[in-house]
Amino acid sequence: MGLSFFKKKDVVALDIGSHSIKLVQLRQAKKGWELQKLGIAYLPPEAIVDGSIIDSMTVTNAISGLIKEQGVKVKDVVSSLTGHSVIIKKVSLPAMTEEELAESIQWEAEQYIPFPMSDVNIDFQILGEHGEGKGQMEVMLVAVKKDVINDYTNVIKEAGLNPVVVDVDSFALENMMEINYTLAPGESVAMVNIGAGITSISVMAGGVTTFTRSIPMGGNQYTEEIQRSFNISFKEAEDIKLGRAKPPGEPSELAGVMNAVSANITMEVKRSVDFFLGGAPGGVISRIFLCGGGAKVSGLRELMQERTDIPVEPVNPFNGVASNPKSFDAGTLGEMAPSFGVAVGLATRRLGDR
Ligand SMILES: Nc1ncnc2c1ncn2[C@@H]1O[C@H](COP(=O)(O)OP(=O)(O)OP(=O)(O)O)[C@@H](O)[C@H]1O
Ligand SMILES: [Mg+2]
Repeated sequence: MGLSFFKKKDVVALDIGSHSIKLVQLRQAKKGWELQKLGIAYLPPEAIVDGSIIDSMTVTNAISGLIKEQGVKVKDVVSSLTGHSVIIKKVSLPAMTEEELAESIQWEAEQYIPFPMSDVNIDFQILGEHGEGKGQMEVMLVAVKKDVINDYTNVIKEAGLNPVVVDVDSFALENMMEINYTLAPGESVAMVNIGAGITSISVMAGGVTTFTRSIPMGGNQYTEEIQRSFNISFKEAEDIKLGRAKPPGEPSELAGVMNAVSANITMEVKRSVDFFLGGAPGGVISRIFLCGGGAKVSGLRELMQERTDIPVEPVNPFNGVASNPKSFDAGTLGEMAPSFGVAVGLATRRLGDR
């Protein structure tokens, strides 16, 4: 038996979304990342609402089922949070070392976080010297509510697994980008993750997330608008949206409803992009990457490209990941790709990182 003190332990990634749970396991081979396991389990709309786990039993059962179905042996789980339980803020602080900031972060963060410090876990990343004020530095502050972390780690524990890391969606997407795309030095790109209930928008400059915003809008809005327009149930509306059922009216009527929601989401993306560029004189966002299940809405990519005047492309989280064609059919992988951005990023985390 070889020595294995420095061998990093494998983990399984679970992106627990309100619409579905995505599972990914990657292996770090000599040549790069290899896909080991890939699976998805759908949740009923009432299991997770507004980022809160309402029906923990259903979520636990979905996780157990997925682990069993995919034959996952690894117990250590990396998961993530998003939405309003996560606060990410770029702040300017007096220049100090990382150790000094670690000591004083609770105190420094207090004025920026709208929750009592005792209710949140705080993390930070020093981005660098401040451009204007001397003796100042820019810091990315991350605060996550402890009760929400507990709810998510509990469903994982109840499924007989061991939650080792709880990350944040936008940082997972940053890791996903790192293994799949080569950006030019200093290039800034935006990432738009359209989930069911939440759309998160982030900007990565030089490979580091420097701006994030989340809006309570996503795939559910399309379904709800179809539901309202045709006076049908959510389930019927979802089937129509996904092309599994015929719309009651003319196809152009459905397209009109869908396009109105796409226009709203696009407007929010444009606002975020403009806000970011307003604070970065001379800055350019070279590309917008789309991911999340909502990225599959037809016509959305083109509309966003037209309205923002920035090239928009779907992200492929398997771009730089090798996979055995006998185990993973290329068509299925392509179909799944947009939904797996966060999960692939989470799956690159190893214990001992950071
Ligand atoms: N082909 C498609 N066309 C249109 N919408 C789609 C398609 N496939 C999936 N969706 C929608 O994408 C959404 C699910 O996306 P995703 O899996 O990224 O969400 P989630 O991570 O579970 O949710 P959240 O992150 O908001 O908690 C749903 O609203 C679903 O209806
Ligand atoms: Mg999601």
